[in-house]
Amino acid sequence: MIIMPTSRATLAHKLIHGDCLEVLRALDEASCIFADPPDNIGLGYNEFNDRRPDDTYVAWLGDCLRLFIQKANIVWVSYNAKWSFALGMIVDDLLREHKWLEAKPCVQVYTFGQHNHHDLGNNHRPLLRLRRDDAPLYPDAIRVPSWRQLNGDRRADSRGRVPGDVFDFPRVTGNSKQRRRWHPTQLNEDLVERCVMLSTLEGQRVIDPFAGTGTTLRVCDRIGRPCTLIECDRTYCEHIAAEHHLKPQGPGTKLFLAS
Ligand SMILES: C[S@@+](CC[C@H](N)C(=O)[O-])C[C@H]1O[C@@H](n2cnc3c(N)ncnc32)[C@H](O)[C@@H]1O
Repeated sequence: MIIMPTSRATLAHKLIHGDCLEVLRALDEASCIFADPPDNIGLGYNEFNDRRPDDTYVAWLGDCLRLFIQKANIVWVSYNAKWSFALGMIVDDLLREHKWLEAKPCVQVYTFGQHNHHDLGNNHRPLLRLRRDDAPLYPDAIRVPSWRQLNGDRRADSRGRVPGDVFDFPRVTGNSKQRRRWHPTQLNEDLVERCVMLSTLEGQRVIDPFAGTGTTLRVCDRIGRPCTLIECDRTYCEHIAAEHHLKPQGPGTKLFLAS
């Protein structure tokens, strides 16, 4: 399906410098949240401390998820497999508390994971989708060529097939064209695009509470969704603002808007 992008001038993107929980509480609801929280594995962020005590980190993840499901119909969370069990317990509690909530476990797999001579290497990153059970999905928007199409089988569905819950997208490493070298980690734009396309229509707002390099905004800009980014690091905010011509709303402001 071809989506004609809305012109950039009409997309009211926002970037807010601040803590995601504090900022998000004051924001209106959106159609979708895409969240890639820090992994708490000691990555070298500019300001942010990525090595908090495990219990503190897990409790904070729980607070995030609780707020996210109140603020969007569909929430995607990309997280480190190290936290699968702790996160599973949080989701289990949420499902008991909210009968309207549905959880869909997905996974990103990649060929060039971290190699380990002594044990199995790491070639995957879990991806969780939490959804209000009445929130619409748009699977026709993410169809991909089917095996039959690729092999010239006349029985092939000309629309292609809706992909499964295994997302095969490479990690964004040093020599990737997508790479922004001023930030230690970023997600593949195609992965974020698939999630957003499945969850929203053109013009519907997407929030990313952990902007990082602004991957979600780059994707939203391309496919015509207004995006709100939140990021606690001022330097990262300034990089994103410069790339997307977002203007600070006054000296020392926390809000950057599309002009
Ligand atoms: C894993 S990175 C996100 C990368 C992003 N998905 C991308 O593709 O560029 C997490 C980001 O969240 C930011 N961050 C950490 N804690 C935060 C908080 N409480 N509120 C807002 N941003 C936070 C970090 O500074 C970091 O840039």
